[in-house]
Amino acid sequence: MPPPMLLNDGTEMPQIAYGLYQVKKDEATRCVADAIKAGYAHFDGAAFYDNEREAGRSLTEECWYTTKVWTTDSTFEDAVASVKRSRSELGRDLDLALVHWPVPGKHVDMYRALVHCKEELKIVKRIGLSNYTEDDYEELEKSGLVKVCRPVVNQIEVSPFLYRKECVDYFQEKHIVVQAFKPLQRGAALQNDTVKAIARKHSVTEAQVLIKWGLQKGLCVCVKSSNATRMAENLKEWWGLDMDDVSALDALTTEEALAAWRAHYEKRRAGTAGPWGPGPRPILEDVAPPAPEPSPDAPSPSPEPAAVPPIEPVPAYEAAADAPAPEPAAVADADTETCRVDSSTVEIPAQALEEPGDPRPSPKRARVDEAPAVAEPEPAPAPAPTAAPELDAATVKKMTVAKLRAALAARGLDTKGLKAALQARLLEAIA
Ligand SMILES: NC(=O)c1ccc[n+]([C@@H]2O[C@H](COP(=O)([O-])OP(=O)(O)OC[C@H]3O[C@@H](n4cnc5c(N)ncnc54)[C@H](OP(=O)(O)O)[C@@H]3O)[C@@H](O)[C@H]2O)c1
Repeated sequence: MPPPMLLNDGTEMPQIAYGLYQVKKDEATRCVADAIKAGYAHFDGAAFYDNEREAGRSLTEECWYTTKVWTTDSTFEDAVASVKRSRSELGRDLDLALVHWPVPGKHVDMYRALVHCKEELKIVKRIGLSNYTEDDYEELEKSGLVKVCRPVVNQIEVSPFLYRKECVDYFQEKHIVVQAFKPLQRGAALQNDTVKAIARKHSVTEAQVLIKWGLQKGLCVCVKSSNATRMAENLKEWWGLDMDDVSALDALTTEEALAAWRAHYEKRRAGTAGPWGPGPRPILEDVAPPAPEPSPDAPSPSPEPAAVPPIEPVPAYEAAADAPAPEPAAVADADTETCRVDSSTVEIPAQALEEPGDPRPSPKRARVDEAPAVAEPEPAPAPAPTAAPELDAATVKKMTVAKLRAALAARGLDTKGLKAALQARLLEAIA
């Protein structure tokens, strides 16, 4: 394991992160437990990955956890609510929260929300950026917010197949750690002849070559595997690449790859629905109750297989870049207001920071209530269908939507559309 990296706030962060993107919900608890066993101490998550609660079940106090605020939470209120929800789902304060993509005209407010979460709510220890170009950063800098609270990292896609050297140098010169995501190009990079030859030369694996390339560039490398053997392989120390290897790898970025990256960058900034659908991340009350927690004594749900299952390489850059989320949808409407901080000042406006709690209730939705870090705000897991208690009209009337959903689920009834049905009833009553 390489030594930790020094951040611009004087604290340290482990240099290799375990990435949680595309770790399936029902595997996240096991994967995080396996990753901790393998030696990972840094976990890179996000609201968009839709597995924070499950990952949180295995995280220990010593683990570093990063969350990110998705593009649909692009107002101050929605961004704050997303961080609060991540914190509630994790059951602990967050080591780092990032603006996931610099949404034009909105990302400064999203960053302002993160400053609020750190400085006022104190639920996040550090804040940072993801997918920012030099231009995006300059726009943020003009707001004055980075003088109030400097981002400690910018997480961007970096590998020998997408090496934007000027961008990496720009942020490193500003003492902002560059975190490299997709270091293996989701497995596709392992098939490259240059990478294979270098791996053979050093008797290491292709994945180890690609990870070492990032570490030698002074990057924090975020790598994902759901397989315990590959998790350990990706952490394995070895001597390293020589100058010839580095030059050969540096030359692998093509114009096509850069053009594909640019198209993906524009698409994401234009807005993509989250796994929860278009619009802001739902508040906890609207979320179905969690599956029952596995007993700590229970055997691992998925014991390590004897043989390592094969990888399916991803053929093209853009094909790999998309999430299993619904089709792109427009970014949530309304708030077209840009930076509210005068570029000549470094102060955050009073309305953004002075009031306790969530200062500006969103016109679009209720906010996540202030919840203590470890409190479990949702109802107990739904009982097994056979043990479902009797429901009478009086009980039903007193139930929250989440409890009602749990009760229906316990009876094997479909709860989809429940909210819409309730809203329709409410509208009827008002009319
Ligand atoms: N900020 C952003 O916008 C953003 C975007 C994308 C990703 N990220 C972060 O960066 C992390 C890593 O990126 P990524 O998950 O997209 O891609 P990646 O780490 O480049 O690739 C993951 C893929 O490679 C396979 N793999 C892992 N280790 C391997 C090995 N030793 N040998 C062969 N195959 C191996 C994995 O399969 P198995 O699981 O089967 O081993 C998985 O399919 C993410 O999980 C996420 O945390 C951030």
